[in-house]
Amino acid sequence: MTMPDNFRAFRIHADREDYRAGIEDVSLDDLSPGEVVVRTAWSSVNYKDALAGTGKGRILRRSPLVGGIDVAGHVVASTDPAFREGDAVLCTGCGLSETRDGGYAEYARLESRWALPLPAGLDLREAMILGTAGFTAALSLHRMEQNGQTPEMGPVVVTGATGGVGMLAIDILTRAGYEAHAITGKMDRLDFLKLLGARQVISRRELHWGQRPLETATWAGAIDNVGDEMLAGLTRVIQPYGNIASCGLAGGHSLATTVMPFIIRGVSLLGIASAGTARHIRDAVWQRLGSDWKPANLDGICTKTVTLDELGGVFDTMLDGGSFGRTLVQVAA
Ligand SMILES: NC(=O)c1ccc[n+]([C@@H]2O[C@H](COP(=O)([O-])OP(=O)(O)OC[C@H]3O[C@@H](n4cnc5c(N)ncnc54)[C@H](OP(=O)(O)O)[C@@H]3O)[C@@H](O)[C@H]2O)c1
Repeated sequence: MTMPDNFRAFRIHADREDYRAGIEDVSLDDLSPGEVVVRTAWSSVNYKDALAGTGKGRILRRSPLVGGIDVAGHVVASTDPAFREGDAVLCTGCGLSETRDGGYAEYARLESRWALPLPAGLDLREAMILGTAGFTAALSLHRMEQNGQTPEMGPVVVTGATGGVGMLAIDILTRAGYEAHAITGKMDRLDFLKLLGARQVISRRELHWGQRPLETATWAGAIDNVGDEMLAGLTRVIQPYGNIASCGLAGGHSLATTVMPFIIRGVSLLGIASAGTARHIRDAVWQRLGSDWKPANLDGICTKTVTLDELGGVFDTMLDGGSFGRTLVQVAA
C-alpha cells in the first residue's frame, strides 16, 4: 500500500522553555523507529493524554513526540513477517507518547514486540473504547484474582466511577460475576452507573469513614482511580485478605495510612502499571476483554468522539474531573 509523504499528527513539544501542542504535518521519517507501520483508524483520550497534551504533567521523556498512548488500525507495511499488510492491530501504553511517537496521527510506527493482533471478539473501534482505560481496569481484576480475589468474597468498590477506567471496571467486574459498587462525585450519573451494573452508588462527598487505622470492613476489594485520602480510607475498610488495586491519582498522589490493614487484616495493595505490562500478561488480559470480560455497554461508555483537530478541547475538562466515560478519537475509520 502506498502512503503519503506527509500526514497529519497532533504533536507535542515539551521543552524546558517551550511547551506547545497541535496539528503538524509529519513524515514517516519523523516517527520513532519500529517494524510495523499502521494506518491509524482510532485512538482514545486517557487522563495521561490530557496531562501530556496540556503540559500539566511531565509525561514526555523526549521531545517532540506525537501524542496518544493508544492506537488501533491496519498494517500498511511490516519488516517483521509476523505482521502482514491489512492486519488489524492495536497498541496501548508501551512508551507511546512517553518515549516514542504515539497514536494521534494518521500513521503510526510500532515496535512489533508491542503490536497486538486485534483479539477475537473486538473490532478496532471497540478496542479503542477500551484502550488503556479498559486494559487497566481488566489488569486490575487480573492481578486481584491472581492474589485470591473471588466473587464469593463479597462486593468490590470502584472509585472515580464515572471516569474511563471507573466505568469500564464496573462493567468488567459485573461480567466477571462480582457485585460492583461505585463511589463517585457525580451522583447525577447514578442511573448510568446502575445500568453498567453498579449495585450501590455512593457519593464521594458523603463518605463518612472514621479515621481509626481499622474501620468497619465494608468491601472485599477495591479498584481505586483516585489515590490520596480515598486510597488511605479504602485501606481501613477492606475485608480480611481483600485486594486494593491502586491504578490512579485523580485526587492526588499521596498515601497516608498505617500498616494495620496489612498486618491485622492481610489486605493487599496491588500496584497497577499498565504501560509497562509484560507481553504475555497483555495478551492474556486482551483475550479476556474480547471474550468473557467484554463490557456489555461499550457504546454507552463511549460518550464522545472527536477528530485530531478537536483534541485540545477535551483535555482540560478531563483534568478538572469533568470526565464522563470514554472519548474516542476518530482518525481515519
Ligand atoms: N496505572 C495505570 O496504568 C493507569 C492507566 C490508566 C489510567 N490511570 C489513572 O487512573 C485515573 C483514572 O484515569 P481515567 O482515564 O479513567 O481518567 P478520567 O476519565 O478523567 O476519570 C477520572 C475520574 O476520577 C474522579 N475524579 C476526578 N478528580 C477527582 C478528585 N479531585 N478527587 C476524587 N475523584 C476525582 C472522577 O470520577 P467521579 O466524579 O465519578 O468520582 C473522574 O471522572 C487517572 O489518575 C489516571 O492517571 C492509571
